[in-house]
Amino acid sequence: MKLLYICCPLFVLFSIAQTVAQHSHSSKEKHNHLHFVEEPHSYAQPNEAAIKHLDLDIALDFSAKIISGKATYQIENNNAKQIILDSKFLNITKAEADGKETTFSLSEFDKQLGQALTIDITKETKTITVHYETTDKTEALQWLSAQQTTDKTHPFLFTQGQAILTRTWIPIQDSPQIRITYNAKVQVPKQLMAVMSAENPTKKTEDGRYTFKMKQAISPYLIALAVGDIEYKAISDRTGVYAEKSMLDKVHYEFSDMEKMVVAAENLYGKYAWEQFDVIVLPPSFPFGGMENPRLTFATPTVIAGDKSLTSLIAHELAHSWSGNLVTNATWDDFWLNEGFTVYFEMRIMEALYGKDRANMLAHIAHQQLNDEIEGFKKTPDETKLKHNLKGRNPDDGMTSIPYDKGYLFLRTIEELTGREKFDAFLKTYFETHAFSTMSTERFIVYLNENLLDKYGLDFNTEEWIYTAGLPANKAIIQSDKLDKVEAVIQQIVASNKVDATLTKNWTTQEWVHFVKNLPNNITIGQLTLIDDAFDLTHSSNSYIAMVWYEKAVTHNYHGNEVDKNIEDFLVTVGRRWYVSTIYKAFKNADKVKEALAIYTKARPNYHSVTANTIDDLLGYK
Ligand code: BES
Ligand code: ZN
Repeated sequence: MKLLYICCPLFVLFSIAQTVAQHSHSSKEKHNHLHFVEEPHSYAQPNEAAIKHLDLDIALDFSAKIISGKATYQIENNNAKQIILDSKFLNITKAEADGKETTFSLSEFDKQLGQALTIDITKETKTITVHYETTDKTEALQWLSAQQTTDKTHPFLFTQGQAILTRTWIPIQDSPQIRITYNAKVQVPKQLMAVMSAENPTKKTEDGRYTFKMKQAISPYLIALAVGDIEYKAISDRTGVYAEKSMLDKVHYEFSDMEKMVVAAENLYGKYAWEQFDVIVLPPSFPFGGMENPRLTFATPTVIAGDKSLTSLIAHELAHSWSGNLVTNATWDDFWLNEGFTVYFEMRIMEALYGKDRANMLAHIAHQQLNDEIEGFKKTPDETKLKHNLKGRNPDDGMTSIPYDKGYLFLRTIEELTGREKFDAFLKTYFETHAFSTMSTERFIVYLNENLLDKYGLDFNTEEWIYTAGLPANKAIIQSDKLDKVEAVIQQIVASNKVDATLTKNWTTQEWVHFVKNLPNNITIGQLTLIDDAFDLTHSSNSYIAMVWYEKAVTHNYHGNEVDKNIEDFLVTVGRRWYVSTIYKAFKNADKVKEALAIYTKARPNYHSVTANTIDDLLGYK
């Protein structure tokens, strides 16, 4: 209860806004039932009526690129006369309350939030149904032609819900504080298989009809669907991979340590709660590295390097099965609670499987990225606070290195203060205690004090870490011997204008990335040519090494070795936002927006809306 007293002055509790205002603010009892904090990114008023379970019944039309059908919700009705859902770019055709048609209205359109869909109900209403179809403006869905897939034989569809895009393919109360179970019936063309963030098929059905069940309550941003000509291959009895046929064996090899990762994660922070952990590798336009959809992580094919060197991404998405999917950020301002904890957990899984050297390299590279990000926010230092303030903005704006890598550094600094044993016990209990619920920054601070800092009499500047810009002086030092050696090799090359290839023998991907990223600002074209002649980085089959090399090439006007053609091919095929925005930013910073736009015009039709929106803004594309 303490929580509510703390929260009330800070956050106007959700439901108070309308109904309660008409009655009075007084009744404490009434307050005690209200458990949703104010949500800047949803119209829903869940303290009055909240969805609890979804039955989705939809059909996919690949030629029209439309999903149509109905969503039926069981609701918790607190004597409400209306229930409000979020809806964006949907055609709503009919609403029902307990099976009888009822009236509904749509509010004015807001660029970020879409529209409030208000459905008239009675105090007794237990279920509502919304009939709807998606439109060509949908932001969650990417409909791909056969040509845009790897095998080029069948079309493909995937969804991306986080942060506030689920409302563009399902009318829903689209707040991370909402938790629902769901069942779905999905009709697709019979050559294709459908999979969701739920119990999944491992084979195609004869008629293209699929039924799904997600029996654990999840937040709406985690509802996900992928449909394509895909196959399944198990790794263990609870892990496996989905991919297009020509990729399946490669993907299976790349991710063959997945079961070991789950075991390592369970040894650290408790039982895996979702039974199955599968990964689907999507076509190259997938806008993220990975997305932690429960039971079925969605992943980019750019991590299939052939040598398992980019699989920390899997450790990351797996870690979200605890931080994010079990204990969920209350609002997108608390995003660091999802991502910072997940990066910390990711590093621990990587250390457990592959040792300290690898984990330290990853952490060191992340730290450098964080420093660069902070430098980039020199003029807007508020962006470097762990707790965001995204009201009125797109929550996507908060997806910078700050919640990830500053969040990581915060936790690692506390770990070093308390020692691992106490810190691990604390985290394990934190996940157990808050499983299947949401966490806000303010509640976390109280919990941290009570269960770790005060408990052991430790003095720590938590508020400075969370509410102020930049990095506090007591931050942990992250040192990597291997990467120090890489820096020495750079010195030697620059000083001697010679490349001694024996020095880079057996380098891993992380060493190469560090090498390229730390080439000095005054590197000459001659030196870049020397390096490319020796190592052919322009044709690297590792997407990460290629990406950082292309960034350098653009920045330093290096045009050798057909690098320009490779950059263009990369930008036209790959839609992973972090990769492509890094390269387009390099164009922009080098005053080459015109060249960038020439490529972007070709590439844009291949990008998911998330990536296209970012690059539109970056390049001023209209
Ligand atoms: N949950 C995120 C992806 C995300 C964040 C999507 C915010 C939409 C809004 C996912 O877990 C993630 O962090 N992906 C990273 C990879 C990771 C290894 C840092 C990515 O895609 O780069
Ligand atoms: Zn993440």
